[in-house]
Amino acid sequence: MPAPGVAAAARCGASILAPRRVRRLVQLVRSASASGEVEMDTAAEREKETYLESASRPSRFQESQWGPEDVCTVLLEAMRVQWSHGYPHTPRGYPRTTHGFHEYPAGMQAAAADRILDVLPGDSLLDPFTGGGTSLVVGMTKGRRTVGIDVSPLAAFVATHRTWRPGVGAEEETFEWMRHTAARVVDGLDDAAKAVRDEDEDAKAAKESESEKGSAEGDDGTHGVREGAKKGGGVPRAWRAARRSLASALDDPTAPQPPSPGLGGSTPAGALWFCLSVALQRSQKGRGKKKRGYKNQRQRTKKDFEVAIETGAAIEAEVECALSFQKCVDEYCDRVGELCEHTPGSTPAPVIVNGDVRSVSEAVLDGSVTSALTSPPYPGVYDYLSFARKVRAGSGAALVDGPVGDGSSGGAGSYSQETTDDAKRHGALRYFATAVPDDRNWPTDWNSGEFGSRRELRQDPRAFKDVWQEDQRAWLGVVSRALVPGGRAAVMIGDGANVDTRLSTIDAGAVVGLSHVASVSMALTHDMADGGVWNAARREHLVLLEKTA
Ligand SMILES: C[S@@+](CC[C@H](N)C(=O)[O-])C[C@H]1O[C@@H](n2cnc3c(N)ncnc32)[C@H](O)[C@@H]1O
Repeated sequence: MPAPGVAAAARCGASILAPRRVRRLVQLVRSASASGEVEMDTAAEREKETYLESASRPSRFQESQWGPEDVCTVLLEAMRVQWSHGYPHTPRGYPRTTHGFHEYPAGMQAAAADRILDVLPGDSLLDPFTGGGTSLVVGMTKGRRTVGIDVSPLAAFVATHRTWRPGVGAEEETFEWMRHTAARVVDGLDDAAKAVRDEDEDAKAAKESESEKGSAEGDDGTHGVREGAKKGGGVPRAWRAARRSLASALDDPTAPQPPSPGLGGSTPAGALWFCLSVALQRSQKGRGKKKRGYKNQRQRTKKDFEVAIETGAAIEAEVECALSFQKCVDEYCDRVGELCEHTPGSTPAPVIVNGDVRSVSEAVLDGSVTSALTSPPYPGVYDYLSFARKVRAGSGAALVDGPVGDGSSGGAGSYSQETTDDAKRHGALRYFATAVPDDRNWPTDWNSGEFGSRRELRQDPRAFKDVWQEDQRAWLGVVSRALVPGGRAAVMIGDGANVDTRLSTIDAGAVVGLSHVASVSMALTHDMADGGVWNAARREHLVLLEKTA
């Protein structure tokens, strides 16, 4: 087991650093520790300490602070927890709940968010860049009213399902219904697989007749993939049977119904589609990569699939997919159960808005929010919308033929195409309601609105800094208007594109009526042989602002 410093080095900014850079970082910390520069804890000492106790000691990171000592102490502890434990796992002793269920990049450490709440007043919490919903989940466990905004439909989808709960008192019944439905998906797999094969046969026949008419293009070996992409948004073939089986289980009017829709922007049926998306995503993360044959789910051409059907490998792979979906449902029920245990029953369901924070309606942000906690994009570091499109195209496309269900039959109606305003507001719907295009022409909202992206930096490096600062003022202005006088905003942000984001945040805040209370910075630096200093990890800051009365 690596020493804590090593683990920390490997994890800090882990979502941001390339693997090679993380390895280099680990080497640096190791060599520093071997030369005595870094004091290593013994495993026995670590065993005794809670994560907050170790965060209360000065760390091996290079730390700076500005502002009152007591506030800085809290902010520093939060940053030490962030840098020591990274994401998505929560430290031992901190409830895991739904954190990290479904991958989302650049997450905030839940235990760090929890510590930051100690300096954020009131009973409500806004996260204008909600991502996977870490701060919303933490806020819920403190009984706060929570509001999340994110431009990425994937973020809205993930955050909605990480914060969704069954109705109070209906928890066990709901979980039982979900587990039972997952078991029916496995039982119904043969029929579903047959339906998928029949569909393929029909498509093949249609294609042949088209080609006889001389209108079809020749099969260049990629045709099967493109066809698959049209039908299911590039969902691996091995997953199509489980997906169809789930749709059938949910559309069966004779099947038992879930006890209630639950609290938040989804339903028990919606949660099952989420679990399918998680299972599918996990399967593509290299699990079983070493396995041979169709099992590795990588062969996507029609020819591969036909061979796999003949050898029986396809069925084996399909069963494996359905079972892994069932396992995911089991895990999700446990995790949501843990969230329910830690969330006071009276806590309202979060409001999650899928859109650009700079244009969110004042009806949502009406000046009554007491605190904000967020981690905005770092300048020029990430392309969140591009990640969302990739996940949607490759793994999230849980649709059969268009939106699932129409709300009239059983539990599948949570993703009806007839969007109610409420469903739109919650955003999860849009994730499924958008058909994956056959080409690169995604709808505009999957392509625009993100600020500070790497793409933007590449497109116009000279203009980037000024545009960035304007955007900082714009979103902090929205936060300022949303806050009550005396309300506070904590911003966790890292440098990029040569921008000192601590100063940038403080300057932008001052323009929109948010004054600096305190801030801390973390870095990991290394002395070079020539006497120079190399900053080995992205410098990150935690800035606390307060709305002037
Ligand atoms: C660092 S991530 C937030 C991660 C989050 N704190 C978590 O724990 O998962 C930044 C988020 O900002 C979102 N974002 C970028 N531009 C935005 C905009 N204009 N309006 C709202 N969200 C935006 C991205 O989609 C991304 O999810």
